[in-house]
Amino acid sequence: MDNGSENLVYFEDGVIVAESGEAKVYKTSYDLFLEIGPGHNLWALESEYEDYVWQLKDFPKGRCLEIGLGLGVASRYILTFPKVEHLTTIELREDVVDVYEKIKDTDRKFCLDYNPEKHRILQANGIEYAYQTKQRYDFIFIDCYNGIDEDTLPFIADMAIACSKTLKPDGKMMGWLDKHTPEYFVGMFYQIFEQSTN
Ligand SMILES: C[S@@+](CC[C@H](N)C(=O)[O-])C[C@H]1O[C@@H](n2cnc3c(N)ncnc32)[C@H](O)[C@@H]1O
Repeated sequence: MDNGSENLVYFEDGVIVAESGEAKVYKTSYDLFLEIGPGHNLWALESEYEDYVWQLKDFPKGRCLEIGLGLGVASRYILTFPKVEHLTTIELREDVVDVYEKIKDTDRKFCLDYNPEKHRILQANGIEYAYQTKQRYDFIFIDCYNGIDEDTLPFIADMAIACSKTLKPDGKMMGWLDKHTPEYFVGMFYQIFEQSTN
């Protein structure tokens, strides 16, 4: 999502609570935002927590893989599931990994109870990791795009095909469904995940 300079509402009462390279985390009275520069590119919002709860249902279990760290909202939520043994999160950008480590729990609205020792964060390209790893996963969550449209669908499909190689036969793989996605793209999005898990 590219918030042009005319639409920077989240800066009005925002303060930077963590920063590394081109990654900045802003806190406002109502949300936490991850912006990756240059420019004001909004990549993650803490309020998406509720969408993750809706979408992930009770799927996370066993050995889990996640592509795209962002603010780590989904990571932390996945780690709260009692049947999750371990979560590996692959993040492309070093500054995002670094800024994640700098966010204080007191700056987050959702204080989740989880064991951080079950979380491994690797800085790598998700596609490369998926083709190289010998690990096999019970649950895979892909969230490394900031919208679903004709530009991002080919990338999402490539990532899903690569990650499907690491999925156990009875495993579950899903991608983050942006609730603002036009109907036309929703069908194509679901098709990607149906095809890559069959
Ligand atoms: C929308 S954010 C993820 C939001 C995250 N689920 C959360 O809870 O905050 C997408 C993240 O994917 C990362 N990313 C983009 N391309 C990637 C790739 N090829 N491999 C791994 N991570 C990638 C971005 O740097 C960004 O941090």
